[in-house]
Amino acid sequence: MTGATGRVALVTGASSGIGAATARLLAAREMRVVVNYLRSVTAADEVVAGIEGSGGQAMAVQGDVRESAAVESMIEQVRAAWGGIDVLVHNALTPYVIKPFHDMTWDELGGKLDDEMRAAFAVTKAVLPAMTEQGWGRLIYLGTGLSRQPREGMIALGTAKAALAQFARYLAQELAPRGITVNVVEPGPVEDTRMASLIDAGQKQRQVAATPLGRLARPDDVAQVVAFYASEDNAFMTGTTAAVNGGLAMY
Ligand SMILES: NC(=O)c1ccc[n+]([C@@H]2O[C@H](COP(=O)([O-])OP(=O)(O)OC[C@H]3O[C@@H](n4cnc5c(N)ncnc54)[C@H](OP(=O)(O)O)[C@@H]3O)[C@@H](O)[C@H]2O)c1
Repeated sequence: MTGATGRVALVTGASSGIGAATARLLAAREMRVVVNYLRSVTAADEVVAGIEGSGGQAMAVQGDVRESAAVESMIEQVRAAWGGIDVLVHNALTPYVIKPFHDMTWDELGGKLDDEMRAAFAVTKAVLPAMTEQGWGRLIYLGTGLSRQPREGMIALGTAKAALAQFARYLAQELAPRGITVNVVEPGPVEDTRMASLIDAGQKQRQVAATPLGRLARPDDVAQVVAFYASEDNAFMTGTTAAVNGGLAMY
């Protein structure tokens, strides 16, 4: 990995799971990392302390990514300390209901769509001016395999993330002339995340059995792929989707 020294990366939802692993890895690759979180201040501070303890640079910044005023204020704090953001990893996971369409209300489905796209819109709008000015930027969005492959009860998350993935492809087309690449990382089930804790042992066993590589993903598996997209090494991939699922689904 080349040339990352000093780049500023914002990882939304970095107090836990995939976001925390990504923050640690980008810092190890010599980026200065903004660890965004909503409520888990202690966990976010622990991620920052771990990075600093390993000789990296990080800062924790609270902010609800669904609120454009909060996002603007977060970007302003970063700008004052470190300047513009070079890399956005939009990873924060806003709440959603798990239930069949039959039992779902419009407020549940529409609320998730609104949260997902409002957050992506706000963070993207906020980071683009600095990237445009310098003619270089990296946007990476965390999607899910569920946006292509339905699983029982996951219609709200899967539909919202499908919208996010297409949003990213439109951005890739529009932003390429500005030197900004846009890509989506779509994990399958990932261990050591809050979502994983909702899966019972039987379900986990079935998922492992259906995965050619014989285990579930770990947050670090996903972080490695995000880090590639975030790096100078990725000069020519934009508008793509990387499936990090051990072969659970192939597309
Ligand atoms: N886990 C999986 O199996 C899996 C599979 C496929 C895709 N993904 C995708 O990977 C991403 C990360 O998932 P994860 O499972 O690692 O998440 P997680 O462990 O549940 O962590 C979610 C993170 O998002 C933050 N967050 C939630 N709402 C927020 C808001 N409104 N503003 C700012 N931050 C907010 C949380 O902060 P607080 O701690 O402060 O609340 C936390 O840091 C998500 O986009 C998810 O859809 C996950």
